[in-house]
Parts: sequence; structure tokens; C-alpha cells
Amino acid sequence: MRAVASTPAIPRHVAIIMDGNGRWAKKRMQPRLFGHRAGAESLRAVLRACRDHGVEFLTVYAFSTENWVRPEDEVSGLMSLLKTFLKKDEHELHENQVRLRVTGRIRDLPEAVRTELERVMAATRAYTQGQLILALSYGGRAEIADAVQAIAWEVKEGGLLPDAVDEATIAQRLYLPDVPDPDFMIRTSGECRLSNFLLWELSYAEFYFTDTLWPDFREKEFAKALEEYARRQRRYGAPS
Ligand code: IPE
Ligand code: IPE
Ligand code: MG
Repeated sequence: MRAVASTPAIPRHVAIIMDGNGRWAKKRMQPRLFGHRAGAESLRAVLRACRDHGVEFLTVYAFSTENWVRPEDEVSGLMSLLKTFLKKDEHELHENQVRLRVTGRIRDLPEAVRTELERVMAATRAYTQGQLILALSYGGRAEIADAVQAIAWEVKEGGLLPDAVDEATIAQRLYLPDVPDPDFMIRTSGECRLSNFLLWELSYAEFYFTDTLWPDFREKEFAKALEEYARRQRRYGAPS
């Protein structure tokens, strides 16, 4: 049973679709990568804000399964930005005892990025003060398809009966089964869609859409979003 009567004022898990880097750069007549770099600064700011406000889990959509269709130089630019982020910001994870995790098809990523991710994930594995989850080569449908495939094999091999497959069976086979579902989903840049983000996990999250472009989304904007969350009443189907 979910708790209905009282919604904690601070979400335990925030998920963010960090959108609008390209448009931010275009407005300044700069290449898209300039926007992605500014976007990385917003991620740093929001990660610190999560610590200050007591948000335990932060999941950020950094690269979708659909984003592979972008021009090669943009994709490789994003990958090297990710490597830089891991190198430059690893110390903050240690200082704040924050564990780094990845959700998505990590095997699709270039070897050098994967190695760096695996290194930082291993080095922060034991931390319990918070989790930063990077959604990389992530697609909500891919995640569900991977879970269904795992279940199909278990059934075929006789370890699971078809009638025993329920919501928990699926939830336990998603990429990060131990992470609680997001309470709050933020999307920047004015687009009001999910773009294949956490389809299963967001089923009861509160949604927040803002026109602010991701590179402009810093501590103040985050605090404003949290204020809005605190005003929401989560009912999970119960009467108001
Ligand atoms: C989000 O910004 C970052 C990624 C998808 C990697 P965009 O690059 O989508 O920026 P817009 O939407 O084109 O402005
Ligand atoms: C969603 O943004 C993916 C990320 C932020 C990583 P997109 O910019 O790729 O989404 P669409 O194409 O506008 O739906
Ligand atoms: Mg976009």
C-alpha cells in the first residue's frame, strides 16, 4: 500500500529531462556543443541543490536511444563531455558520498566512456548519502522490452510460471530495481512529452514542465519547482 494521507514536502527521487541545450546555443549563434557544455553546468548546480534540499535520488536523461540519430560530431561531443564531467566532478561525489549509477544500454556506449563510467561507479558503490543516476542510451520501451525478454527466458527455463508474472515481476527486472520510482519529473524547454523516458517508473510521478531552457535551469529554478511539488496532493486513486 502506498501512503496516501501525507505527501512529504520534498521528493525523494527527482527525474529530469534536460532539454533545450541546442536552442540555448542557437539563440547565442553558437554551435550546439556550446549549449551542451552550459547544460553540464546546470547539472552540477542541480546536483548540489539536491544535496542542499535533501533529495536522495536524481535521475537525469542525458542521452536517449533515439539520440543516436544525431550528427556524429554532436554524438562524439556529448560523449567526450560526459568523460570530462566524470573526471572533473568525481571528487564531488566522494565529498558528498553520492553513488553514481547508470540506467540504459551501457553496452552501446563507446569503450572509453564505458570504462570511465564503470570506474566511477565502482569507486562510489558503497556511498549512501544519495544517488546520481545517468540515463544513457536509455529508452523506456527498450527497458521494458529487456525486462520482458528476461522473463520469457525464465519461463522457458522453467523457473517462472506464466501465471506468476505480475507487476512486481516486471519491476524487479527493470535496469535498477532497487531504486524507488521518481516522485517528481521535470522537463525543461517547453516540450510537453516524455520522449521515451522512464515509462514504467513515472506512472504516478508529479510532472512539471517549464519553458526555461536547460542551461538556464539552476538552483533558483530548481527551488521553484520543488515549491510547486510541495503544493501538489498525491492521491493514488483515493478520494480527495
Ligand atoms: C538536450 O538538449 C540534450 C540532449 C538531448 C542530449 P537538446 O540537444 O535536445 O536541445 P534542443 O532540444 O535541440 O534545444
Ligand atoms: C530527450 O530530449 C532526451 C534527452 C534530454 C537526453 P530530445 O530533445 O531528444 O527529445 P525530443 O526529440 O524533443 O522528443
Ligand atoms: Mg531537445
